[in-house]
Amino acid sequence: MFTSDVLKGRVALITGGAGGIGFEIAATYARLGAKVMVASRNQERLDGAVTALATEGLTIQAIRTDVRNYEEVQSAVATTVSQYGGLDILVNNAAGNFHCPTADLSPNGWRTVIDIDLNGTFYGCHAAYPHLKKSEYGGCIISIATMLGLSGWPGAAHAGAAKAGIISLTRTLAVEWGDDQIRVNTISPGPIGDTEGVRRLYQETGREELERKKTALGRFGKKSDIANAAVYLASDLGQYITGENLVVDGGRWLKYVAA
Ligand code: NAP
Ligand code: COA
Repeated sequence: MFTSDVLKGRVALITGGAGGIGFEIAATYARLGAKVMVASRNQERLDGAVTALATEGLTIQAIRTDVRNYEEVQSAVATTVSQYGGLDILVNNAAGNFHCPTADLSPNGWRTVIDIDLNGTFYGCHAAYPHLKKSEYGGCIISIATMLGLSGWPGAAHAGAAKAGIISLTRTLAVEWGDDQIRVNTISPGPIGDTEGVRRLYQETGREELERKKTALGRFGKKSDIANAAVYLASDLGQYITGENLVVDGGRWLKYVAA
């Protein structure tokens, strides 16, 4: 779909990049010429991601990181820069979520999801900024959100509030860092089949069919749909796009309004 060198020479750090949508983005970026660092908590998963892509001859490394810890995020950024010579693209993909009615949600449950999704995204942006502004391609930040952040998300108030915060942070940084030629955008996926998110939130709660029908296209998306959007935004194809929320949801939010 893209020319094989569309990201050649660029360095990308992807949080939560060892599994699910994050791994699909990591693999796609690496196949299109990027040097990739994936950062998350589970060492086994990180090792698996490196092995899978290194056997294809792709450039990938991993660093154990909890995005709730600013020092660890700073260290992931510093390691990326020292290993690859700079940083051009940051993808804030790491997230935590669980279904829980708000009345039953403990303050620590609320804090945990806000810490991973919203604070982790802020930490990434903040730690990456001095390096992104030196990027010869123009720095690029992509954070993964969802339109459920804007509509409200019954059963996941913590994640909804965090994702809305990410969209707002993105718009602020697009303006604050525009003069530095850093573009800051979000992607809002709809339900993506065969992911931990869909398994937890829809399969485990018996809502899979209902959620499928909520999309205008009547089907779940694929991880590659999100990875392709992430290539578009990170490459020169998207070089005049900043502060945008690219919705890749099979028309779910529109049908939601129409239903
Ligand atoms: P996933 O497979 O559970 O991926 C989440 C990743 O985040 C995991 O690799 C996990 O790795 C990492 N992570 C969690 N907590 C972390 C922490 N504290 N520090 C560092 N890394 C952490 O989920 P997914 O379904 O692919 O979702 C990826 C992104 O898409 C998320 O932002 C999600 O909100 C968004 N999204 C997904 C869907 C969907 O349908 N799946 C829809 C809309 C939006 P470790 O456990 O190794 O740390
Ligand atoms: N329902 C209600 N509360 C829950 C819960 C659930 N299903 N799961 C966790 N919590 C609460 C815990 O009870 C705890 O609160 P408490 O101290 O008041 O009891 C708090 O959330 C933190 O839980 P803990 O298990 O200690 O957090 P953790 O840091 O080990 O894990 C999670 C973080 C909970 C987000 C975990 O699900 C995770 O690591 N997820 C990553 C993958 C993921 O969620 N993917 C989906 C992406 S869309």
